[in-house]
Amino acid sequence: MDKWWQQSTFYEIYMPSFKDGNGDGMGDFKGITSKLDYLQDLGIDGLWLTPFYPSPKVDNGYDISDYYSIGPEYGTLADFELFIQEAHKRELKVIADLVLNHTSTEHPWFQESKSSKNHSKRDWYIWRDQPNNWESFFGGSAWEYDQATEQYYYHAFAKEQVDLNWSNPEVKAAMFDVMKFWLEKGVDGFRLDVINFLKVNGQFINNPYDDEKQEQIHLYDKDQEGILPMIEEIAAFVHQFPNKFLVGEVGSEDLTILKKYSGLDKLDVVFNFNIGSMAEFETKQLYQQLVATEQAYDDAQIPTLFFSSHDMSRHLSRFGGDTDHAKLVAAFMLTAKGVPFIYYGDEIGMQDWVTDDISKMKDVQGMIAYQLALEAGKSQAEALVMANEKSRDKSRTPMQWNSQANVGFSDGTSTWITIPEAGCNVTVENQQDDSGSMLTFYKELLQLRKRYSCLRQGEYEFLRYDEGVIYFARNDSTERIVVVLNFSDQPKTIEDCFTSDVKMLLSTKRKPVECDDYRTIFAHEALILKEVTNR
Ligand code: GLC
Ligand code: CA
Repeated sequence: MDKWWQQSTFYEIYMPSFKDGNGDGMGDFKGITSKLDYLQDLGIDGLWLTPFYPSPKVDNGYDISDYYSIGPEYGTLADFELFIQEAHKRELKVIADLVLNHTSTEHPWFQESKSSKNHSKRDWYIWRDQPNNWESFFGGSAWEYDQATEQYYYHAFAKEQVDLNWSNPEVKAAMFDVMKFWLEKGVDGFRLDVINFLKVNGQFINNPYDDEKQEQIHLYDKDQEGILPMIEEIAAFVHQFPNKFLVGEVGSEDLTILKKYSGLDKLDVVFNFNIGSMAEFETKQLYQQLVATEQAYDDAQIPTLFFSSHDMSRHLSRFGGDTDHAKLVAAFMLTAKGVPFIYYGDEIGMQDWVTDDISKMKDVQGMIAYQLALEAGKSQAEALVMANEKSRDKSRTPMQWNSQANVGFSDGTSTWITIPEAGCNVTVENQQDDSGSMLTFYKELLQLRKRYSCLRQGEYEFLRYDEGVIYFARNDSTERIVVVLNFSDQPKTIEDCFTSDVKMLLSTKRKPVECDDYRTIFAHEALILKEVTNR
């Protein structure tokens, strides 16, 4: 365990919503730089920034129109360089979100590609005379007809996000140049967007249909032949630069798929959606996924731990809105084995936002769902419900620094959403000096993770589940720590798992002297204990 990222906790920053530094209502690099002290004090080690490149923002920056500069709304290259410098001064690493799979239709490469069938860049994208049945992951056909050249181009996401043809070596070379540019600018690695999509089936075989779920099975448009060698090439290229880190988004809950993408010659880690994206919280399911991951992964593979992101509902809201429960989730994320990724705002318990007005919706996935629902004959009210289900605006509201954060963000074209009324008291300002707050709890957990190496790199000595309680011991040559997480609403007695006297490091329900029967765990308690004997 000698790699920095194996010892790190990451924090995801959704660029438009973290901190506005110039008063135009939109997050930017000046703003993030001004909050580096906050992030350092919180105790994280690395930042993941969502795309900050110039973009028409059809999909909030995941539609890049220039890979070599900074979107003007986020600042200048000089602002970016200063930010990197200031982050590094505080020993915070920075990883950049990079979209290799597709570009914006406004990218000059695509403009050239679509200009004529004979253009030298025609083959940089995927053009066909006839579409097949593949559907976009945002809904509707994945093919868009281009009148001028009378062919269809392929887009796995919105029609403004056009897929590059990774079978063309020029595309690969162009993207390797992009990676080199940012690595030399000082980023410590990349979060690679939808990285298992780079290859599609060369015969364009139609996807099968799942009659029961009434949806297409995406069998031939991702995880295709040739993808793993391509991942290896990307990893080899990036790892030529010392100490650079790659985390891949492989959008699957299937461990057999996730497992293929990480390891020594591949991505350093991938997001474990098998753990992180449960729709409802099921303690036993969480435990089973942990065990399955432990069994599936080899020694060189390390899982990631996350429960929220810019693509999903915040875990506090998703799992029912109970802050005790959210603390248990946090305690799990920061004491279990793996690389944790905290989503901005979760550390103060921010909640989801859901709109009652379709004109306020910003997310393309929500808007496409709305259109498709109307086309299928749904009423506007029904369509809104369906749109809200799909919309990822939920978790993208401005970071609640203080109660004034409620003024609302703008993205230059329309007013950005305001924070939920109920959430107005959920602010950094309110929580920073409150010993019982969510923020204080995150800081305590992060301090423990920093202080005790076994929490970062220890193996599970055991990992158990019993009636709503997950508990485990982690140890390394220096110490042994036992973590007990009672997700149930009943006090529970756990099996004896201490080999000597223990000291309480943290509890959400008791003070150190109050009760030292550590075998009886209070309802909803998170309890972290350390063995007293020195190893
Ligand atoms: C990833 C991003 C998501 C985006 C999609 C298409 O899943 O996380 O936000 O919409 O890729 O680029
Ligand atoms: Ca701004």
